[in-house]
Amino acid sequence: MENATSIVMGSDHAGFALKEFVKKYLTGLNVNVEDCGTYNEDSVDYPDFGIKVAEKVSSGKFKRGILICGTGIGMSMVANRFKSVRAALCNNLFAAAMSRRHNDANILVMGGRVIGTELAKEIVRVWLETAFEGDRHKKRIEKFDSIQEK
Ligand code: RB5
Repeated sequence: MENATSIVMGSDHAGFALKEFVKKYLTGLNVNVEDCGTYNEDSVDYPDFGIKVAEKVSSGKFKRGILICGTGIGMSMVANRFKSVRAALCNNLFAAAMSRRHNDANILVMGGRVIGTELAKEIVRVWLETAFEGDRHKKRIEKFDSIQEK
C-alpha cells in the first residue's frame, strides 16, 4: 500500500458489517485504521458518520478515508460537501481504479447492501494501490475544488 498507511473509516448500520470486514482486512495489511463508528447494527443516521470521516480528510488529518452505507449514495453526498474531499462511490473495480487515476479520490465509498465482502476487498486494494495520473486531470480537479465552500 504505497499511498496510505492510515485510513479513517465510518459507516452507518447498513454498512457496519462491511466496515468491520474491511477494517480487519486493512489491519492485516498493517494499515492503521481509525474507526469513527458506527459500532453496532442499531439504526443511526449516515450523515453523522460521513461528517466525522469527511472532516478528518478535509482537515488533512488523514489523506484517505473509507465510508460505507447501504448504497453508498448518502455517504457520497455528505462527504462531497467538504472542502478538498473527493469522495467516489465505487461498487466495482473499474470505478475504483478510475476514481484514483483520473479523480484523485480521497474517500472511497461503498454500498454494504450492494456488494459482497470479496469484491469490497478487491475494490479497497485497487483503490489504495492505484496512483493519480495528474497532468490534465489535476487541472480539471482544480476547477471544482476551488468552488467548494465548506
Ligand atoms: C439506511 O437505511 C440507508 O438509507 C443508508 O444506509 C444509505 O443507503 C443512504 O444512502
